[in-house]
Amino acid sequence: MPKSFFATILFLLLTHALKAQNMHPYKNPDLSIQQRVDDLLARMTIEEKAGQLNQLNGGVLTGPQAATDPGQTGKLDLLRTGQVGSFLNVTGAEETGRVQKIAVEETRLGIPLLFGYDVIHGYKTIFPIPLAEACSWDLAAAEKAAAIAAKEASAAGIHWTFAPMMDLSREPRWGRVMEGSGEDPWLSGQFSAARVRGFQGKLDDQHVLATVKHFAAYGAPEGGREYNTVDMSRYALWNYYLPPYEAAVRAGAAAVMNSFNIFDGIPASGNRFLVTDILKTRWSFQGFVVSDWASFGEMITHGYAADTANAVEKALMAGSDMDMESRVFQQKLASLVRSGQLPEARLNDAVGRVLYWKFKLGLFDDPYRYHNPTREKAALLADQHQQAAREAAANSMVLLKNEGAILPLGKNLKSILVVGNLAESQDEVLDFWKGQGEHRHTVTILAGLKNKYPEATIEFVRGYDKTNTFIAGDATVIRQKARNADVVVAVIGLHGELAGEARALADINPAKGQLELLNVVKSTGKPLAVVVQAGRPMVLTDVVKNVPAILYAWIGGTQHGNAVADILSGDVNPSAKTVMSFPYAVGQIPVYYNHYNTGRPHRDGNEGPNDFWVSRYRDIPNAPLFPFGYGMSYSSFAYSDLAVAKNSINQNDTLRVSVSITNTSERDGIEIAQLYIRDVAASRVRPVKELKAFERRLIPAGATQRVAFELPAQQLGFFDENGNWLLEPGAFRVFVGPNSRDVQEAGFVLK
Ligand code: GLC
Repeated sequence: MPKSFFATILFLLLTHALKAQNMHPYKNPDLSIQQRVDDLLARMTIEEKAGQLNQLNGGVLTGPQAATDPGQTGKLDLLRTGQVGSFLNVTGAEETGRVQKIAVEETRLGIPLLFGYDVIHGYKTIFPIPLAEACSWDLAAAEKAAAIAAKEASAAGIHWTFAPMMDLSREPRWGRVMEGSGEDPWLSGQFSAARVRGFQGKLDDQHVLATVKHFAAYGAPEGGREYNTVDMSRYALWNYYLPPYEAAVRAGAAAVMNSFNIFDGIPASGNRFLVTDILKTRWSFQGFVVSDWASFGEMITHGYAADTANAVEKALMAGSDMDMESRVFQQKLASLVRSGQLPEARLNDAVGRVLYWKFKLGLFDDPYRYHNPTREKAALLADQHQQAAREAAANSMVLLKNEGAILPLGKNLKSILVVGNLAESQDEVLDFWKGQGEHRHTVTILAGLKNKYPEATIEFVRGYDKTNTFIAGDATVIRQKARNADVVVAVIGLHGELAGEARALADINPAKGQLELLNVVKSTGKPLAVVVQAGRPMVLTDVVKNVPAILYAWIGGTQHGNAVADILSGDVNPSAKTVMSFPYAVGQIPVYYNHYNTGRPHRDGNEGPNDFWVSRYRDIPNAPLFPFGYGMSYSSFAYSDLAVAKNSINQNDTLRVSVSITNTSERDGIEIAQLYIRDVAASRVRPVKELKAFERRLIPAGATQRVAFELPAQQLGFFDENGNWLLEPGAFRVFVGPNSRDVQEAGFVLK
């Protein structure tokens, strides 16, 4: 080996060592993140520290918002003087790069910004809404969808998404049920963890920081009314509402977002029990807590903080770290710390948490790694993303009814009549949390059917307008066109923009004009399939009586219409099962499967002579229209021979249950078998059923498969009102079946 080689190596090593010696330690990539954080903190003024905890909005929610446009220059002056640590709603590789350059090159310490954005179910390629995605019961697909969303978002300059949301909810009147994973704590946790893994990956530059939100129990607003009061027992909080957040924290989420609501009469942003006692102490959360939009300042409106300074103190001392757009930290934090009214140690802890993740993302070593317009162009709307979105959408759509096997329609249709404004309007498909998704890229149901049946005659009649008013003249046209149609596809539901924040609805029945349309179509006597397009469960009681087939398409994202056509045609065999109960009536809400028994339970359909003085309505059944876990397939499955390996197990054992499932149809199909338990008697009443496992399994036509479940006995426990996990001996029931209602049952004893 020539001497010059060694000389070169030596030179490089010496240069590197000299450079490292001359540079500030926080800029030295050879040091640990903690060493770098500590060095940087020691160099920062109190004002600069407070600046890192100030997140400002870069503009409105859509479009690459130029934080440099005239309306925003005030924010850039604040940035230049070290008073901003993060922006939200600044998007696009070029725009974020431009603003990042100011932070890195025009501020005293060159601390890079974090760019945050609501990448809820896709950035540019939009996937099914999370509630729909959860109906697939496909955790791998959910992780993959989050990874694709992260790939597109990170290419567009985004470091951090405010997702996944995992607010458990039994409230279809609440517009944000679309963002969650339904009414079961364990399943919601499984999906939340999968999405955290997908968003964050190994935190290379193809991934983004994830956020656990909204902490906590935001999904239980009284009356389903947005931003309304939440009031529940700690027993309910621990057993129903906290598990999904904990699963996401344990999956390694970098951030947690406060919720708007109160708990125990204290706003979540200032709630030490939630943020410090549970999140940071019990769950050892090492990330940072960001407020929801202006929620620190809203503690004054709640009547919990007396003024801005008091709001700052209550947020910071509860354990919350970053202020999104309430400006109270910007106004008062530095002066309160400088005057000694607030401890600098707590400020350092909050800032240290934020800086840790900026180092972790590599922003100090390569601050422009997320701001490459060429990479952005290649990533957004990539073909493989479209394919993944289409598959995800088809696997999220729930077949609720299929009388006389109207569906699948097959591929030889000559003429289809499509009716309903929602079928044709691109503006009505995407929801409020569409990110940078554009209506013009979205496939409507009409377009999807035209793509699927290029040779067929496909006619469209609007039937009802954007206000859901029936278009009277269309009745004649529909009757006339139906004569030549092989089948009618009618689309009803809700405008996509009615799914999301500040979109609570007191009435979730289909509009009168839509029901009138169905009556007209029904009167033609033609085969009819109804597709419901909505971001929440609707009340379908008046629909289900009158139509033979219902496909609940939810909001399927960019590939919505193609996915609907894949199912209606039979190219995809539906397998999805709802993760929220469908109410029989609005008055029945909240209705959910994992309820307590009460002392006077009503047995729908099995009333006895004394069943008057029981817990029931006089005018409707207790049971929902469609139960949790319900969904049909073009295949059919029979369950048999449920077996519990041992009739009694001890607390270190594993419960082993197996069942045979036969595909009794002539078509291969995916079945989602569900396992529930019931703790028959315990020191606290327990739900009549609790989902504890499931198996999503492809079963060939005519085949029988033995499906086995293993459940560690530890998971048979529950929390008491103080968050202590109790595992109590006694009798248990175990249920296995295709949904939470139609189950086989067995018993066992926990010793
Ligand atoms: C909103 C939402 C929250 C979102 C944030 C930023 O008010 O409650 O989920 O992440 O503000 O858009």
